[in-house]
Formats: sequence, structure tokens, C-alpha cells
Amino acid sequence: MIKIAPSILAADPLNMERDVRRMAQAGCDMIHVDVMDAHFVPNLSYGPALVEALHSRFDLPLDVHLMMDNPEQYIDVFAKAGAWGITIHAEIPGNAAEALRHIRALGLSAGLSVKPGTPAEAIRDLLPYAGMVLVMTVEPGFGGQKFQPAMLDKLRALRQMGYTGLLEADGGVSLGNLPDLKAAGLDVAVMGTAMYRSADPAADIRAIHQL
Ligand code: DX5
Ligand code: ZN
Repeated sequence: MIKIAPSILAADPLNMERDVRRMAQAGCDMIHVDVMDAHFVPNLSYGPALVEALHSRFDLPLDVHLMMDNPEQYIDVFAKAGAWGITIHAEIPGNAAEALRHIRALGLSAGLSVKPGTPAEAIRDLLPYAGMVLVMTVEPGFGGQKFQPAMLDKLRALRQMGYTGLLEADGGVSLGNLPDLKAAGLDVAVMGTAMYRSADPAADIRAIHQL
């Protein structure tokens, strides 16, 4: 069954609790938190204080996606704030394997993300350190972009390389492309616009769980 992680980037920042609660009541499986540093991506977003606040109010696993040049400096901070999992990017200047080992040593899910331009082959040596691979299906930085169908091949390539951990897709994911994503091996769907703009998120979540 595909798990659904609505991305709070699409929530109303002044009504975050109300909007996240709507997703929790609709039956989502996780909460996806996009952390952006204005260097790795041209946008700024949330920090550990928000993760801590979400952790204090919701029981759902917090899936923290670090779009940052130096994630290693913040792994302990986000772990302490209550993250269930921390995902770093393969394209960072530092040592991604070391960062993944660090996340795993804290007992969290260690995620490795790849931008659309990074091929599956480029992360072959990092796969043993990753419990989840997040395939970006748009350029990271902003919600509301169009899904890139060519990324389905990357999911399939990862499975063909023998990767058996969780596969997550992020960017432009919707009910329309989820059947293809599921066929390509998807486990976790990050959905910002599609979930937060849905008129009936509970019905959508039921439909996705039944795929
Ligand atoms: C983009 C973020 C995504 C974003 C997805 O850089 O990583 O999580 O919120 O939003 P949608 O689903 O609207 O493309
Ligand atoms: Zn994300």
C-alpha cells in the first residue's frame, strides 16, 4: 500500500495546525516537512522549531526533507525536534554516506534524495546506507510544479539495481500519475498541492491506498 505524506509547503502558513489536522483526519500516513536553505535551492522555508511544534501536536511520523548544502550540521537538531526520518540530498558538497550513517545511528529513517538531473547510477554506492530513496519528480525548491514522467525510469532503474528499501516520489504527484508510480515501485507519495487543494482529501487518500 502506498503511504501518503502531504507536504506542508502547500498548507496555509498562518493556519498550519488547522490544515495539517485536516490531512491527519483524512487519514494521511506521514507529514512531509520541506527544509530549504536558500543555497541548495532558491527558496527558504522551515526550521527545527516547526518540526518540534508538529511533533508536540501530531502523532504522525515527520518526514523531514533537507534541501540544504550542509545537512550534517542539522541532523542532531532535527532528530531532537522529533523527526521520524531525515532525508538529505546526494548532490551536497559534503559526505552523503557519513550523513546517512549519522541519521541511522540516531535510530531514524535515513533518506537519500536525488534531483531530476542526478541519475540512479550516481547513487549506487550510497544505496546501502539509505533506508529510503526520494526521487525528485520536479526541480526541488517550490511546490505546484509539473510532474516529470521521465523520472519513472529512475524508480525502475533503482529497483533493477537491486535496491529494496523504500522509494518516495516528490513533486507534482497526483492521483493521475500514482498508478504509474506504483507500477514503478513507489512506496511513499509526497503530495503538496494535490492533497492540500483537494476538495475531499479523505476520498483521495482512500483511493490511493486502494491502488
Ligand atoms: C519541492 C518540495 C516538495 C513540494 C511538493 O521542492 O520538495 O515536497 O512541496 O509540492 P507539490 O506536490 O505541489 O509538487
Ligand atoms: Zn519535499
